[in-house]
Amino acid sequence: MRTPIIAANWKMNKTAAEASSFTREFLAQDIPSGVEAVICPPFTALEAVMAQLRPAGRANVFLGAQDMHWEPKGAFTGEISPSMIGAAGCSFVIVAHSERRRLFGETDETANKKAAAALAAGLTPIFCVGETAEERDRGLTARVLEGQVRNGLAGLAAEAVSRMVVAYEPVWAIGSGRAASPADARDAAALIRGVVAGMYGDAASLGLRVQYGGSVDPANIGGFMAEDGVDGALVGGAGLDPVKFARIVALGR
Ligand code: 13P
Repeated sequence: MRTPIIAANWKMNKTAAEASSFTREFLAQDIPSGVEAVICPPFTALEAVMAQLRPAGRANVFLGAQDMHWEPKGAFTGEISPSMIGAAGCSFVIVAHSERRRLFGETDETANKKAAAALAAGLTPIFCVGETAEERDRGLTARVLEGQVRNGLAGLAAEAVSRMVVAYEPVWAIGSGRAASPADARDAAALIRGVVAGMYGDAASLGLRVQYGGSVDPANIGGFMAEDGVDGALVGGAGLDPVKFARIVALGR
């Protein structure tokens, strides 16, 4: 059985001090077992979050980064390596978020390098895919998702793919207050699993966890979790509030 996984992507929000108080408050909430929670702060707050998580010793609350470079080290001003975020305590790393694709030139090719480098460094990628409003209107959703999965997850080991997380985040649903429907999320999850099954076999596609992301909140998480094949959520805005995020995690079980 796949364990549900709810991740908070803070994007460019919270100082280290703010991250620290969020984490303290989050850990004081009722977080049940049977679901994994991941907090993905900005790089500058990784240590502050980890400083709270480590002594708390919760087996199901993890640290994640929002991005990384694929090279292990070198002359890449402004970049952070897989081993750096690993040493900061990260177990997860978001790869190819649509904001990275749209605003910072992330391509399927760089996303693929990052997925491979993350896995090689012992990190679990949360690999993001999703169509824009225009692509959806033109009936291209399936083709876009298939391309992003096929190119982004090319050349990996089947066993590693089985441990990955893929986040389906339709771009039009992000930060818009207009979430996709649970049926949309279910269909996308099935499509993603179908492509992965073709590439890596059934074991990989059945092990892989698929999240939905885009305007998830405590009121709509239940609908997504009720769908077959949807294993959790990647949460933006609602993940900035410790009480709301804890509520989503608890309902994500
Ligand atoms: P919102 O939950 O704010 O729509 O953001 C979703 C997202 O982009 C998470 O990565």
